[in-house]
Amino acid sequence: MTKIIAIASGKGGVGKTTLTTNLAASLANQGKKVVVVDANLSAPNLAIHLGIPTVSLITLNDVMKHNAYITHALYKHPSGFYIVPADLDEIEHNYGGLKHALRQLLGNADIVILDAAPGVNKEVDAAVKVADEVLLVVTPDEASLRNAILLKRHIDELGKSVTGVVVNQAKNVHYELSDKEVEERLGVKVLGRIRYHRKFRESIAVGMPFVDIARGTEQQMIIENIAKAIAEGKHENLSLWQKFVAFLNRDIVIWSE
Ligand SMILES: Nc1ncnc2c1ncn2[C@@H]1O[C@H](COP(=O)(O)OP(=O)(O)OP(=O)(O)O)[C@@H](O)[C@H]1O
Ligand SMILES: [Mg+2]
Repeated sequence: MTKIIAIASGKGGVGKTTLTTNLAASLANQGKKVVVVDANLSAPNLAIHLGIPTVSLITLNDVMKHNAYITHALYKHPSGFYIVPADLDEIEHNYGGLKHALRQLLGNADIVILDAAPGVNKEVDAAVKVADEVLLVVTPDEASLRNAILLKRHIDELGKSVTGVVVNQAKNVHYELSDKEVEERLGVKVLGRIRYHRKFRESIAVGMPFVDIARGTEQQMIIENIAKAIAEGKHENLSLWQKFVAFLNRDIVIWSE
């Protein structure tokens, strides 16, 4: 059965596309058939991260408009997974087309990862609605966490489950939010804390996921562990008690806004 995972965040630039490509490479290394899809149609850059020029390629946009089958928009990356790129062709999209496009992948992949747009908007809704589960990405600061809390509330209202959060670009300085604070306030389990590493940017320049150019680093191993947990379905949600604590914090956040 194909599992569809949306990678989302309340705030932009936290590392959704980075996590998408790196989880995909790790899962492919673990023998899974993985497809990554650029569901960030207003700022598509998944192909850029993977060194794939989209000019004259068939993209997700063509599939969503019923002008092509998704098999025509699938490209194999040297890291062992497939990518469905998107292109910036128009401002308003019929996001219903995403469901139609992804339906064609069901049964043909183990895991489909959707690289979603940031924030709370129609574009994100489309990705969340077709996903079986949502993973959030935050950086360990107040703005990122607050926006993630708002997005999580919205995802709950859509009846979808957030199965984990990844804390990214951590520098382990004293003013950063701890994993415990993130878990308690968001009500979601932290699957891993990825420290800042300059090679993440370099990896985009060479079109390869970080995990494939920085083997043996702490970051590579953490991403590999997150991928393993996802593959094995071990990234369970919080205990009832942790959910209760998060619920109390949720009221505090509403009150202080
Ligand atoms: N752990 C990290 N250490 C250092 N740089 C990182 C790390 N994670 C991501 N980056 C860098 O941060 C920048 C933003 O990352 P990315 O594009 O993945 O964010 P995003 O959430 O997808 O952004 P957007 O909301 O615009 O789609 C990139 O230059 C990326 O290389
Ligand atoms: Mg992105």
